[in-house]
Amino acid sequence: MAIPWWRRGAIYQIYPRSFSDSNGDGVGDLRGIVERLDYLVDLGIAGMWLSPFFRSPMADFGYDIEDYCAVDPIFGTLDDFDLLIQEAHARGIRLLVDFVPNHTSDRHEWFVASRSSRQSPKRDWYVWRDGRGSSGPPNNWRSSFATPGPAWTRDAATGQWYLHSFLPEQPDLNWENPAVEAAMHEVLRFWCDRGVDGFRLDVVQKIAKDPLLRDAQPGKPATWEDWQPTIHERLRRLRAVVDDYPDRVLVGEVYILDLPRVMTYVNTGDQLHMAHNFVFVHLPWSATAFRKAIDDFEELATESAWPAWFLANHDHSRVATRFGEPQARTVLLMLYALRGTPFVYQGEELGLPDAEIPSDRVIDVDGRDPERSPVPWRPPSRAGAGAGFTSGEPWLPITSRAEELNVESQASDAGSTLCLSRRLAALRESEAALQGGSQRTLDAGDDLLAWLRVGDGQRLLAVANFSAADRQLRLAPDLPGAAEVLLSTDPHRPAGQVSLQELVLTPSEGLLARL
Ligand code: GLC
Repeated sequence: MAIPWWRRGAIYQIYPRSFSDSNGDGVGDLRGIVERLDYLVDLGIAGMWLSPFFRSPMADFGYDIEDYCAVDPIFGTLDDFDLLIQEAHARGIRLLVDFVPNHTSDRHEWFVASRSSRQSPKRDWYVWRDGRGSSGPPNNWRSSFATPGPAWTRDAATGQWYLHSFLPEQPDLNWENPAVEAAMHEVLRFWCDRGVDGFRLDVVQKIAKDPLLRDAQPGKPATWEDWQPTIHERLRRLRAVVDDYPDRVLVGEVYILDLPRVMTYVNTGDQLHMAHNFVFVHLPWSATAFRKAIDDFEELATESAWPAWFLANHDHSRVATRFGEPQARTVLLMLYALRGTPFVYQGEELGLPDAEIPSDRVIDVDGRDPERSPVPWRPPSRAGAGAGFTSGEPWLPITSRAEELNVESQASDAGSTLCLSRRLAALRESEAALQGGSQRTLDAGDDLLAWLRVGDGQRLLAVANFSAADRQLRLAPDLPGAAEVLLSTDPHRPAGQVSLQELVLTPSEGLLARL
């Protein structure tokens, strides 16, 4: 059976506000992405996932949606979107959009109607309850963001409280109401009919909550979401909607740090195709910890389950800042060489660190500005302060490292992280063992994570050195003595034959070799 497109190569996450600005207003837009499609071709990606570009008051930068089927004017028009999908497809790049099923904006017409009176036909589309006691919220649920505190806000118009898992401007939809579920299925059909290749499902574990709204158990905030078995029935029905179209894919943001539970979303073959594994994102930089996370997934996985490896997105500090710059190169190698689909967040292919955000420029409610800083396309010394991202004033400061870490400079430097990313994508494309081969982690010595990929008569060995010092590889004697280095994250490592018995990994080096 042919390997599905989404297993073959990387899926690249675009945060549209910060990718490329075509009209000089300082905010990235859809036309800006169209202008950069050839960059994405050179990067060798299989598909891209776009964070929300829908009509929104931007209280949570687009994750508060006012109209699921309209493009916010700051990003362009539906015609621009049609152009983007047409041009992406013409280059063999698939496109996923973000589907935000748990909540809308408080300005969405459904919520405006819902809050207007207790008798509104839309009242039950959201979660309204009387308070507890004289002035308390209905239960002890907390917002996932630190600032709002309780997940409930009392609305003066009707005296009742509404549920919001995030900001008060993001009321939770009531998925217990079949009309809500049907309306959300219509949203998926709208975008499938426009040609999108799939969806990333925002905090999807939250679309099934304890129907009795019981208090959370102290220290276990997640006990009220991800309600069994409702969540699985709802996911199956979402899957059935997209399965009416060929080759569509569903990737869930299943923000649960309990892997066995996450696996119930992907193990049956009729729910999500993939789930982002947040256990991976929260790991310390340790070979033992990474090996355990990889082995745990493989042990729990059925035939249907396929990993979605990622270590960065628009909600988490960048890899170069968390782990270090050489380590960020080795992370790219891991993403491309592990069994699973690599998810690469824009800028990670350049090894960007978080940007420094002065206190008077802080704009996000939850401290996520540093990882959302715009992509530097050209050196500021030549392109001006907008670094080729914009001809205007960028909506967030651009990294102070832009002079060195921009796309243009890295493209002409064979040792750069961008060139490394391109070579990894090319290897993933040419080596069947990397796309669909089996995988086994190996004992390899202190601080070394090593794994074998076997497929189509090829055997590849990948090794990552988690130490900032040299480390000697110590493999079991049944492995061959010699190998051919295909790629190293260390620009000084020569290509060609090496003796595995004598191989010493340089500090933080990642290496891929053919056995
Ligand atoms: C997800 C998004 C995040 C957003 C939140 C609420 O976690 O990735 O950016 O703030 O959901 O929609």
